[in-house]
Amino acid sequence: MNEELREVAVAVALAAGELVSAGRPDRVEVASTKSSPTDVVTAMDTASEQLLRTELARVRPEDGFLGEEGGHRPGRSGLTWVVDPIDGTVNYLYGLRAYAVSVAVVRAADPAARPDPATWTVLAGAVVDPSQGETWSAALGGGARLTDARGTRALTAPTGPELGQALVATGFGYDARRRAEQAAVVARLLPRVRDLRRVGAASLDLCSVAAGRVDAYYERGLKPWDLAAGALVAAEAGAVVTDFTGAAAGGHGLVAASRDLHPHLLRALADAGAGDPGVGDPG
Ligand code: IPD
Repeated sequence: MNEELREVAVAVALAAGELVSAGRPDRVEVASTKSSPTDVVTAMDTASEQLLRTELARVRPEDGFLGEEGGHRPGRSGLTWVVDPIDGTVNYLYGLRAYAVSVAVVRAADPAARPDPATWTVLAGAVVDPSQGETWSAALGGGARLTDARGTRALTAPTGPELGQALVATGFGYDARRRAEQAAVVARLLPRVRDLRRVGAASLDLCSVAAGRVDAYYERGLKPWDLAAGALVAAEAGAVVTDFTGAAAGGHGLVAASRDLHPHLLRALADAGAGDPGVGDPG
């Protein structure tokens, strides 16, 4: 069943990826803002989510839906599709190429409630990167794959370097006070690793861990749609994906790292204060 769900995730994410990339005007306007003036929505975020919602309702009418822009619609099957219609919206706005469509299907602990990463099980997911022509996908227990112009191959995350040699990706939320905390963590972590990257699309950061393009990724304050598909791709490729305490992902922050690196990065993040109680939601 998870394989069938993967196929659905790939098909709808590809359709939305095509819409988003083919329909990008030369000048993208901000349609509205959400949590802060820097947390923007473009008309294409809304159009992409509408396509995903309509298509999933057609092929999986019993399932629920949770989208970044349109909120939660509970279903009757116990499964919910969790979608980010454009992950990396700020990159998209500026014409930078690192953006993606992220689609996952989860079994929530309470099917009537909004799915919560702390308690859900992600069954399948796809991350489509239209600029690179790359489709990342995973099915729980079925492995992670990358499809590009050269074909499809299974992904196996490398075991990882020592901390001092690690290339670590991270991201920042939109809340100014949280950003100040995240900047303080960066200042303490940067001297201890090879380098840091801020690509601007969490789903692509997680897929990069799966492919060994970075050694690790961490971020605090992610939303369910940012992490659902990418975390499964990373985990199914053999990376270790947890929260900042080392417990199952989805609680307090997200840390995805190659196997040997993960415990060392967790300690370094704790030393840097990454898990300290902070502002906003606990994630
Ligand atoms: C954002 C991106 C970014 C991450 C932010 C997310 P959005 O998602 O994934 O890399 O650092 O936390 O909110 O707003 O572009 O869908």
